[in-house]
Amino acid sequence: MSAPTTAASAANATPKRARERVFSGIQPSGAPHIGNYLGAIRHWVAEQDIFDNIYCVVDLHAITVPQDPGELRENVRQLAATLLACGLDPQRSALFVQSHVHEHAELAWLLNCVTPMGWLNRMTQFKTKAGDDRETVSAGLYDYPVLMAADILLYQTDAVPVGDDQRQHVELTRDIANSFNARFGETFVEPRALIREVGARIMALDDPAKKMSKSGADTSYIALLDPPEVIRKKIARATTDSQRTIVFDESRPGIFNLLTIYQLLVGQSREQIEAEFAGKGYKEFKAALTEGLVATLTPIQQRYNQLVADPAELDRLLAGGAERVRPISHATLAQVQQRMGLR
Ligand code: AMP
Ligand code: TRP
Repeated sequence: MSAPTTAASAANATPKRARERVFSGIQPSGAPHIGNYLGAIRHWVAEQDIFDNIYCVVDLHAITVPQDPGELRENVRQLAATLLACGLDPQRSALFVQSHVHEHAELAWLLNCVTPMGWLNRMTQFKTKAGDDRETVSAGLYDYPVLMAADILLYQTDAVPVGDDQRQHVELTRDIANSFNARFGETFVEPRALIREVGARIMALDDPAKKMSKSGADTSYIALLDPPEVIRKKIARATTDSQRTIVFDESRPGIFNLLTIYQLLVGQSREQIEAEFAGKGYKEFKAALTEGLVATLTPIQQRYNQLVADPAELDRLLAGGAERVRPISHATLAQVQQRMGLR
C-alpha cells in the first residue's frame, strides 16, 4: 500500500486518502485459470500504482464446500505463489490469507445479524452452487456473500475489481453498508464494483454457454500452470462451430470466446485481429492463440517455480501482508462493535 493508513483514519467513513483503496479476493479451491487471470488478476497487477491495494486468498470462502485439509493448505500457498508470479508486488500490494486476520469472521457474524434472509435468498450464485442439494449444503455456502461483504467493508474499500459473476455480491455489500450506516450512523464506505467491459466473463472451452470455472472439467479451462503441450491440446479441442470465418460475432459463442481471449492476450483491436485472420481458418487461429497463451504463461510459470521452491519465504510474505492490514481491520471492527452496543 502506498498511502499508509493509520488505525484511526482507517475506520473513518469519509477518509481523505491520496489513492482509492481496492480490495479483492480469490478462492484457493482449485487451479487458478485464465478466466481468473483475464477477468481479475491481470487488472490487479496492472493497476498497483493507481490504487491502494489489498488482496486476499479467501480460505474461509473455500471451506463453504468440502475441502481436503491437506490440499487446502497446499492450495493456499500455491495460489499465493501464483498471484506473486503474475506480478502482484508485496511492496505495493498487501497480500494475505483471510483466516490469518480473525476480524473477517467476526465482522461476518455481526453483519449476519443485520442482513435480512430475503437478501440472501436472491443470490443467484447460491442457487447455482446448491442446485438440488439445498438441504445438504452447508449454512456457510448460504452465508458466503455476508462473509464477502465483511472482507470488503473491513477495509473501507472504495472499489472491488472482480469478474462479472461477483457483481451481485458487491451490490449486496453496498446494501448492507447502506442499511448499517442508516441504522447505526456512518461507519462503512460504500464500495463499487470495478468490472471491465471485455474479459469479465471468459467462457468454458468445452461449453461456451457456461463460464470458465475451477470446478469444470479439465478440458474446460486453461490453468495458469498448464504446460505448453496441454494448452495446445485443450485449445485444439475447444468448441467452435461449422462456419469458417474468424470474426467477432456474439451469435457464435465458441469462436467469440476464443477471439476475446486472444484479443486480451495480444492487446490488439477486433479489427486488427479480424484482418490478421481474414482468409484463414480455425487451424491457423488456434495455433496463434496457443502461442499467445504460452507466451503469457511461460514467464509466470518460471517465477512460480522459483517462489514455491522457498515456502518459508512465501509464509514470511503472507505474514507480512496480514501484519499490514490488521490495524485497518481492527479499527473497523472496533467501531462496529461500539456502534452495535457491544463495547
Ligand atoms: P474465484 O476463483 O471464484 O475466487 O474468482 C476470482 C476472481 O476471478 C473473481 O474476481 C472472479 O469474478 C474472477 N473470475 C472467475 N471466473 C471468471 C471467468 N470465467 N471470467 C472472468 N473472470 C472470472
Ligand atoms: N466471492 C469471490 C469469488 O468467488 C471471492 C471473494 C471473497 C471476493 N471475498 C471477496 C472478491 C471480496 C472480492 C472482494 O470470486
